[in-house]
Amino acid sequence: MNVMANLSYLVASVLFILGLKLLSSPKTARRGNLFAALGMLLAIVVTLLDRRIIDFTYILAGLLVGTALGLWMAKKVQMTSMPQMVGVLNGFGGGASTLVAYAEYLRMGETAGAASLDVLITIGLGILIGTVTFVGSMVAAAKLQGMMRSAPILYPMQKQINAAMLFVILVMGVLFAMDPSRGYLLLGILFFATILGVTSVIPIGGADMPVVISLMNSYSGLAGAMTGFILSNNVLIISGTLVGTSGIILTQIMCKAMNRSLGNVLFAGVGADYQAGTEQTEQRTVIRYTAEDASFILESAQSVIIVPGYGLAVAQAQHVLQELANLLMSRGATVRYAIHPVAGRMPGHMNVLLAEANVPYDLLMEMEQINDDFQNTDVALVIGANDVINPAARTKKDSPLYGMPILNVDYARTVMIVKRSLGSGFAGEDNELFYDKKTMMLFGDAKKMVTELVQTLKK
Ligand code: TAP
Repeated sequence: MNVMANLSYLVASVLFILGLKLLSSPKTARRGNLFAALGMLLAIVVTLLDRRIIDFTYILAGLLVGTALGLWMAKKVQMTSMPQMVGVLNGFGGGASTLVAYAEYLRMGETAGAASLDVLITIGLGILIGTVTFVGSMVAAAKLQGMMRSAPILYPMQKQINAAMLFVILVMGVLFAMDPSRGYLLLGILFFATILGVTSVIPIGGADMPVVISLMNSYSGLAGAMTGFILSNNVLIISGTLVGTSGIILTQIMCKAMNRSLGNVLFAGVGADYQAGTEQTEQRTVIRYTAEDASFILESAQSVIIVPGYGLAVAQAQHVLQELANLLMSRGATVRYAIHPVAGRMPGHMNVLLAEANVPYDLLMEMEQINDDFQNTDVALVIGANDVINPAARTKKDSPLYGMPILNVDYARTVMIVKRSLGSGFAGEDNELFYDKKTMMLFGDAKKMVTELVQTLKK
């Protein structure tokens, strides 16, 4: 590879790292995205010019088909389906790595026997990690889409069977490295990795899904890095490693948000046979409040903390919510947003949503920053959030949410909860807060209810 190409790869890698750094704050995230995209463009153009891997007409055709499909998917996807889309895209990264690894083996043909050991090992690893990522991401996306049960699916000897499959894969990998002419062993790895992709993701579910999404993201990076080793492509090694490590950091953040270790999330199957509300016998009453009742309290509130959740994304109520926040601030109230790390269905879901409505970044508070302030707050206004405010996480030992730090909305003087019913959140757990004396339930679609609040306050 010539010096110019390597220099360009270096520049692309610096752009990736700068992009990642800028992505760490909502204020600079858009610039970060642009930097990273420029880095990727540079890497692609240089690779196409430098390596004549296949005919340019194939490359152009691939580019056109990929761009058209990508544009179509991006335009068609609903904001609420973004998490599944991210899951599917992670999976495609893994699938691409598998294809490249196997194609490289086929390209070697008779000469495979002369290939160095590290290339043979990375071909095996590329197929293993790439396939687990592809299949695992599709299972995660299906869970998020509601196409399969989101609660953990457990069966006897699950961990042992997974460990046995991993062992078989390892043995096949070693046999392949010893005699690379046995290409059928790679197909064996592909077969068991496909099963492993399913069996390693189905035991995780409910409130733990954020961890799967970020873990698959990390795996897709690792698979990309393997492909980089196979093709001796530095920029692929660097970008794959960056995705792999940032994905693992995100996984750690998600585990911290759930107050669980990664091992516990991956292997404990928390909440598998939990059935919310089964032991509930007494009748509890809930008072339905109107927008007018709520406006009456909001009018005199000095401090309001807004807690957004998945329902905000479903209702697309972010713009009118910011209108409400502006209205309250113009009346002298302090208004801030409390963001739980796993609110919504993908990391940063609430930040993306609120950024769309141009909510100033300094109004967005992370859980640790704001949790102590609820006790001195007049109104906690919950919009379409449920699990992230559910006190069962503090007290109910058999709950799938147990141990997860929650936003302390129940410490505020008044709690207003906007949602359509008494239905549970993603984890399927009942929420006692709905029945609390200081809670005002405002039943309805978030956009409709917040619009009513704005109209009543304007009167
Ligand atoms: P959830 O616990 O899922 O609760 C959302 C609530 O929004 C529901 O109870 C629903 O109640 C309400 N809702 C839905 N549509 C609405 C609408 N149009 N208007 C008003 N309300 C509406 O959400 P959360 O509190 O944000 O917690 C997130 C959960 O998802 C956690 O368990 C988390 O672990 C999990 N999860 C997160 C991620 C990531 S990475 N963030 C990924 C996968 C899973 P009604 O039906 O009664 O309206």
